[in-house]
Amino acid sequence: MPVSGATEAFDLILMGANSDLALRKLLPALYHLFCDGRLHPQGRIWTASRRASTKSDYLALCKTAILEHDALTSLNEASWSKFSAYIGYLNIDFEKSQGYEKLHKKLADPTRPRIFYCALHSKLYPTIAQQLASHDLISEHSRIVLEKPIGSDYQSGAMINRCMAAYFSESQIFRIDHYLGKETVQNLLALRFANSLFEHQWNQRYIDHIQITIAETIGVEKRAGFYESTGALRDMLQNHLLQLLCMTAMEPPASLNAQAIRDEKVKVLNCLKPITGSNIDEQVVRGQYEAGFMATADGNVAVHRYRDEPGVDEHSVTDTFVALKVEIDNWRWAGVPFYLRTGKRLAQRSCEIVVQFKQVPHSIFAMQHKQTMANKLVFRLQPDEGVRLQLCEKRIGHHQQVRPMTLSLKSSGAGVTRIPDAYERLLADVINNNATLFLREDELMAAWKWADPILQHWQNNDVKPETYAAGSWGPAAATLLLAKDGRLWEENNDGLS
Ligand code: BG6
Repeated sequence: MPVSGATEAFDLILMGANSDLALRKLLPALYHLFCDGRLHPQGRIWTASRRASTKSDYLALCKTAILEHDALTSLNEASWSKFSAYIGYLNIDFEKSQGYEKLHKKLADPTRPRIFYCALHSKLYPTIAQQLASHDLISEHSRIVLEKPIGSDYQSGAMINRCMAAYFSESQIFRIDHYLGKETVQNLLALRFANSLFEHQWNQRYIDHIQITIAETIGVEKRAGFYESTGALRDMLQNHLLQLLCMTAMEPPASLNAQAIRDEKVKVLNCLKPITGSNIDEQVVRGQYEAGFMATADGNVAVHRYRDEPGVDEHSVTDTFVALKVEIDNWRWAGVPFYLRTGKRLAQRSCEIVVQFKQVPHSIFAMQHKQTMANKLVFRLQPDEGVRLQLCEKRIGHHQQVRPMTLSLKSSGAGVTRIPDAYERLLADVINNNATLFLREDELMAAWKWADPILQHWQNNDVKPETYAAGSWGPAAATLLLAKDGRLWEENNDGLS
């Protein structure tokens, strides 16, 4: 019997089945959903790829990817063999008609929901939608899932949206941003809107500033083809970082339904203060990694500079790091800087939202250090998930002195043996037609509208990225960005807290 969440049989067509994303994230997520009984027994996953392969070769690749992703040495053979039977493999060139004819023959039942998952470069999305339509593959029960970045700027994003709208209604389009499926992001909503404790302090009167960091230790890996034309701003900031900012800054939605949440997020995006003209050089830091050393369990390992990565142009000016300061022009947030930062080959893998409260208006205690007095709430998304609250307490044995203490709010996780990956949550949502955690067209366009002037400025003025050593925390200019405001990034504050 299907368990809850597996309400109807469906066909999921995974286009770009050999992509890094499909192998590292989507297949492992689908496998776990399958093992947990969350996929309908009569459902079917059609993996489709341009690469000529056989189903058994492809499954061998999937198996290796799942083992690697989950850091396992073996899979349960019985469940793997059932999952293998659930999967079909199709060799399709997404730009040619023949492949869609093949697909048409396979997808016999037009009444079943068809979910077309595009794990491909977004320049292919219009062709795919046109081909699906001309082969009569789209019905009112179909959905299309679009991976980010959707377009490379406002204009191309708008063009893709127009193409999609010609064949699908807005409710059939699922624009995915996997950061919204992460447990701690859900927890951020729960902590903000299921507790009355924070709401009164959640504004410019009490909050000094907010930092959002997504730091990665990996380099560009085998994705140079994609990354060279994308860079950190389009790959991470225009989507993941802005979505985290929206979840942190939005007004309480009326409910958890898709429209209510998305209405609030789009209001935040529309209130982002534009960064234009000379402010771009002042407020935005563009970086690219040089050679350096990455700390590993086996000691420091030397790594290449970005320009020496396979497939990267030796004169490349692609950004592998971006940091910026932005404000939200509304009643709640006026004057509160949000510092956003992301980069590859940084010192540590970490993703955190740091809400730094203001200091008490008048201190009656002797202070060890000024910074330590202010409260801080930190949402940690990875590598480990949790929330910590920094408070002050009296120093035992010291007259009239206080010191910082940290409350670690780790979910009790009673009965939870594994935290599901974000893609599991989001794939289950698409299958169950729940769009709450997906982006609406106006959200995407508001994000591009805000990011566009920065991209144009870099291009028109030939702005070169500042270099940083692999294994560091990014270019010196990123430290300066906060230092100019008398502030420090969280990792530099760590020693104090
Ligand atoms: C993807 C980016 O969206 O997110 C990658 O394209 C990045 O460049 C990845 O590595 C990071 O995701 P996570 O969940 O591993 O932090």
